[in-house]
Amino acid sequence: MHYLTLASALAATALAQTPAGSYPSSNKNLGVAYPNATVTPGVWVNPDYVTTQPTIYPTHYHLYDGTYMILMLDLNIPDSDVTTAAYYNTLVPGLAANTTTRLHWWGGNYTVQNGHFVNASDALAEYTAPRPRDATNHTYTLYLFDQPEGYVPPEEALDGTYYSETTDARFNFTLETVVKAVGGPVAANYFLSDA
Ligand SMILES: *[C@@H]1O[C@H](CO)[C@@H](O)[C@H](O)[C@H]1NC(C)=O
Ligand SMILES: *[C@@H]1O[C@H](CO)[C@@H](O)[C@H](O)[C@H]1NC(C)=O
Ligand SMILES: *[C@@H]1O[C@H](CO)[C@@H](O)[C@H](O)[C@H]1NC(C)=O
Ligand SMILES: *[C@@H]1O[C@H](CO)[C@@H](O)[C@H](O)[C@H]1NC(C)=O
Ligand SMILES: *[C@@H]1O[C@H](CO)[C@@H](O)[C@H](O)[C@H]1NC(C)=O
Ligand SMILES: *[C@@H]1O[C@H](CO)[C@@H](O)[C@H](O)[C@H]1NC(C)=O
Repeated sequence: MHYLTLASALAATALAQTPAGSYPSSNKNLGVAYPNATVTPGVWVNPDYVTTQPTIYPTHYHLYDGTYMILMLDLNIPDSDVTTAAYYNTLVPGLAANTTTRLHWWGGNYTVQNGHFVNASDALAEYTAPRPRDATNHTYTLYLFDQPEGYVPPEEALDGTYYSETTDARFNFTLETVVKAVGGPVAANYFLSDA
């Protein structure tokens, strides 16, 4: 009995590629490699190693023969960075109480070439490095989504709303509109980092 319980607990842990309790979730691993650090789900990465966008690649022998989008979110932004207490309940929930999200990267038109994802257009939101203002560890989640033929990103992505690395528009970012348009993530991965 104990062996069984332990085995299923380990299997569940090994399968989760998104933080427990986060939305949306995925059990399929996305390869994420910075020049000096390959991301293992939930494992801390030195902030010095995540300053430039990572290489994204397929794992698990899954055939990625379509076109894809890559998004990265911080799930630990203090609500107080974004709004006042009266509006906390309107924010897209982060991982912990009174936290919300921030968009760190949104690139589209990715296809697999020579074993990794390569883009054919500029990012909708350029990659920005983790640099939490509160000097605590934040959780950064990377998602791979399908980009069906004819998919048109939301107006606020097309008009450059998210382009600036420092824009407040990147706070309180919801993946719900993406999921509604293209379905749940195809694969994911996540890491912790501080500054
Ligand atoms: C990788 O690590 C080496 C040795 O610590 C360092 O010199 C280099 O700047 C690092 N490169 C990046 C991109 O983090
Ligand atoms: C969240 O923020 C509200 C409003 O400031 C506060 O009343 C509440 O105690 C906070 N909850 C936690 C768990 O920090
Ligand atoms: C946060 O985003 C949600 C969902 O998009 C929106 O309804 C809400 O008004 C936003 N809250 C703030 C304070 O911007
Ligand atoms: C894909 O590329 C086309 C042509 O450059 C562009 O209009 C479209 O917005 C891009 N889609 C995404 C999701 O980046
Ligand atoms: C891919 O995205 C990067 C970063 O946004 C950009 O510099 C590069 O020009 C893009 N590649 C193409 C072919 O558009
Ligand atoms: C973040 O987590 C790492 C690894 O557990 C730890 O070494 C580091 O001290 C933590 N940083 C902060 C600011 O708590």
